[in-house]
Amino acid sequence: MSAVSTALPGVVTQLDDLASGAHPAITPRLVVPGTDRGRLSLDAERELGTYAPVGDLDVVAELAAAGLRGRGGAAFPAHVKWAAVAAAPGPRVVVANGEEGEPASAKDRWLLTHRPHLVLAGLLLAARTVGAERGVVYLAHPETVTAVRAALDELAAAGLRPTDVRIDVHVVDPAYVAGEETAACSAISGGAALPRAKPPRPHESGVDGRPTLVSNVETLAHAAWICRHGADAYRLAGTSASPGTTLVTLGGACLRPGVYEVPFGPSVRDLFTTVAGGFTTEPAGYVMGGWFGGLLAAQRGDVACCYDAVRAVGSGLGCGAITALGDADPVVVAAAIADWYARESAAQCGVCIRGTASIRDALGALRDGRATGAEPANLTRWGTGLVGRGACAFLDGAAALARTLVTEFPDAVTARTGGAHDSHHTPGEPA
Ligand SMILES: Cc1cc2nc3c(=O)[nH]c(=O)nc-3n(C[C@H](O)[C@H](O)[C@H](O)COP(=O)(O)O)c2cc1C
Ligand code: SF4
Repeated sequence: MSAVSTALPGVVTQLDDLASGAHPAITPRLVVPGTDRGRLSLDAERELGTYAPVGDLDVVAELAAAGLRGRGGAAFPAHVKWAAVAAAPGPRVVVANGEEGEPASAKDRWLLTHRPHLVLAGLLLAARTVGAERGVVYLAHPETVTAVRAALDELAAAGLRPTDVRIDVHVVDPAYVAGEETAACSAISGGAALPRAKPPRPHESGVDGRPTLVSNVETLAHAAWICRHGADAYRLAGTSASPGTTLVTLGGACLRPGVYEVPFGPSVRDLFTTVAGGFTTEPAGYVMGGWFGGLLAAQRGDVACCYDAVRAVGSGLGCGAITALGDADPVVVAAAIADWYARESAAQCGVCIRGTASIRDALGALRDGRATGAEPANLTRWGTGLVGRGACAFLDGAAALARTLVTEFPDAVTARTGGAHDSHHTPGEPA
């Protein structure tokens, strides 16, 4: 096994270095012709009908029929959130979440820099459907800010800037926790971009205390597409539980890392071989859901790329970023990601501070040859016991990493403990 060349696999820094395209089995909806040359202009979008009025369509019912699930990570049914905000007393706000602090993901950056009008059309659709008078595009990456502002300027120059919904752009410093929905509401309200305790949830009290729909930018783009083409057309791709297409960021040991539009359903392995040019090295496994879904062993490559199938094997599709590990040592990769989790914690919840530090220390000990033998049992216990314990779901990602390293790569872990397993707890472990 060769040394690991990148301590942090799949980190996407330069969007230009990534390929983009669509799976051969679908008619693309987001990665349409023209996006290979950059941002689609307002004229090009109008030809596609992006801003066409939806008339008297029952938008919530159409989204329900389509089975649209949120692309921000939790895969929550979109229509349920839209209906909850519409039912709450006004005034209301809609937030298009394009913060994308997940290091392995570039899909929201791709969408915002290539199809900002489709996101804005989805934001307007959402605002009009839930009865919001304000829409906020919430961003962190400079290239997305430039693209969205250019799109808004284009609308204004064409006399098409909406008058019934005020649209603002809110920019924050990039950070993983800044994309969490309560952190977004706090930042837009003038506070820190840090998660807040729930309840209340944003649909009850979000931006400035108002009922707020926080939706990932890709979810909004699909919503706009569905209301133009219909739920039946949307369901022509995908599976019954995860219908439609989705953007994935495929990275790591593949020939053409990039952002691709794919139907839900093909296996993880097929995605790499059909759209990402194949593997540079036969993968030891995969990092799933950005870094939020932990690790899967190589033999799990047969799992269908759909929310429920990936959950059923103990991982998560999350934001749709998948990194092929090549011949990297999964222990070394997990330790690097655990370092990142410990650094990125918002350090507001004691259990998150202690939990991420304990996981980092245990994985660091395994990596550095300082293991005591207690690590596998501790990682397994933290991997289940810490789930749901933080104020936000951040800690769940660190727990998934700890849990899946042990369950998916038992031999690699055992090799690092010299075969010694000890179920004693380490001092200072999270309660
Ligand atoms: C630590 C953390 C970071 C998150 N970062 C993002 C993000 O960058 N973008 C995003 O859309 N959702 C992010 N989410 C999920 C949001 O809280 C929220 O569920 C999402 O924006 C809702 O959109 P959706 O229903 O369209 O998926 C994050 C969640 C957590 C726990
Ligand atoms: S769980 Fe962690 S990241 Fe989330 S609010 Fe608590 S300290 Fe911050």
